[in-house]
Amino acid sequence: MLDLFAPIAAACDTSIAAEHRAPVAVVGAGAIIDVAHLPAYRGAGLEIAGIFDINLQRAREVAARHGLPRVYSSLEELLGDEHVRVVDIAVAPQAQAGIVRQAIAAGKHLLCQKPFVPDANTGVELIALAERAGLLMAVNQQLRYDEGMAAARAMVDAGWIGEATTMTFTVNIATDWTPWPWLVRSDRLEIMYHSIHYLDAIRAVLGEPARVFCAGSRTPGQVAAGETRTISTLVFPGNARGLVHTTHENRTGDPEAVFRIDGTEGSIKGTLGLLYDYPHGRPDTLEVSSRVAPTDGWLAYPVTSRWIPDAFAGPMGSLLRAMATGGTPYPTARDNLGTIRLVDALYTAMDYVVSRLAALDAEQVGVAAGVAPPSPQPAEARAAIAVLLQDLERAVSSERVGNLQVLMPGMAEQDVAAWQAFFQRYTQLAARYAIDHLSTRGDTGYATVRTLYMYVPAGGGAQRETRLRQAIRFTRTPNGWRVANIREAP
Ligand SMILES: NC(=O)c1ccc[n+]([C@@H]2O[C@H](COP(=O)([O-])OP(=O)(O)OC[C@H]3O[C@@H](n4cnc5c(N)ncnc54)[C@H](O)[C@@H]3O)[C@@H](O)[C@H]2O)c1
Repeated sequence: MLDLFAPIAAACDTSIAAEHRAPVAVVGAGAIIDVAHLPAYRGAGLEIAGIFDINLQRAREVAARHGLPRVYSSLEELLGDEHVRVVDIAVAPQAQAGIVRQAIAAGKHLLCQKPFVPDANTGVELIALAERAGLLMAVNQQLRYDEGMAAARAMVDAGWIGEATTMTFTVNIATDWTPWPWLVRSDRLEIMYHSIHYLDAIRAVLGEPARVFCAGSRTPGQVAAGETRTISTLVFPGNARGLVHTTHENRTGDPEAVFRIDGTEGSIKGTLGLLYDYPHGRPDTLEVSSRVAPTDGWLAYPVTSRWIPDAFAGPMGSLLRAMATGGTPYPTARDNLGTIRLVDALYTAMDYVVSRLAALDAEQVGVAAGVAPPSPQPAEARAAIAVLLQDLERAVSSERVGNLQVLMPGMAEQDVAAWQAFFQRYTQLAARYAIDHLSTRGDTGYATVRTLYMYVPAGGGAQRETRLRQAIRFTRTPNGWRVANIREAP
């Protein structure tokens, strides 16, 4: 190994120190436990106390194949095993949250499979439960530990490509969903179960996007119910941008799975070997060209391990290390909530494009005329206020005070004048409101909100940003929730 790569290889190490190891029990005996979790844990020298699956026969087969000492006959029996300190879950995803609640009540640390939760609210609830119980909860978003990906991130962290400006994944493969009946039936498919890995990997490098766009579709003749082709674009505060373009309906037998990170001082590019013959695949490839390292052109990094099974030792090792040292696992469930929110935002953007196009055409006429109708709001106050804030983001982007007045009917004359002046000073406006805290009582709601404005000054120039903390008061009218006023937060 070139000396240059020694610190990069060290950052990719997924071995688990003997003093960090603790007994683990596994819930679920499905495909991924069989081909990835258990081989990785055996390779890392972990003690697996036993396994439980509602399909007992399947649990017995997997236990026999991997030499596990015990098959539990119920979840309660597994959780009652005092020897077990960590529960590793990989079940059909709708069953995961219930198992997590029971495992927390039993005092076990947790490694959950992706997708961690079906929606962010469930994630917030589970994280609060674990934190209150003093338990650690990590999510098995193990592409972060796949050697090609981990080495790329270590190179970015070492400053080898300067400021990272673009990160892209292009994946074109043939996926047979039929061994997983629950996937074949799922309305949400490609992003929720596959591209979630790439989105999480991009977040690990570029942080949280401020805006997203997504187009998704099915392919004539496909078996699965959900979307199998997606194009997701991520816009980050500042210069960075991300793109994930995935299709699972490759009909020409030439799989492709490539990624690339560009920066101001160089670039990194590679392939995800696993996807060239799932689930065996081949090692990733990785090359870097850096003016900082420096590399004098493209230099190949020698990848020596695989996504399946090797990367699966990463999240478990990190959880065990955190338990032993009082640290934090990487990534935590709280971090993963950002990935769940991103997935949700992409589906919202996709629905918006596909099914609401006609409605939007009509609405656009109203936006242009300065009389955009507010969107229909759900009955529940929090959900309704979330819809109202999305309308507000769009009204600000329309740069028409008339659109704001529909959402803020009580706007005083000086507020109208202030917004008009604002729209004259700035163009190409985009606003984003992220609620930090929201309380509602009767017909009134109060929120503290992190506000991000992106804009180009009217005189021209580069895109700029302003970040504010604002206090917003909401009121429920016979037509739905509206904004009563917006002030700087104290
Ligand atoms: N790279 C990855 O991280 C990766 C890859 C594949 C699957 N996964 C995730 O792992 C999970 C399982 O996937 P899989 O491919 O093993 O699916 P699978 O359908 O092969 O297996 C799921 C197993 O869960 C069991 N099960 C269902 N409900 C249960 C419950 N309440 N208690 C105990 N067992 C229960 C089923 O009997 C089945 O044996 C899914 O969430 C999937 O998204 C992750």
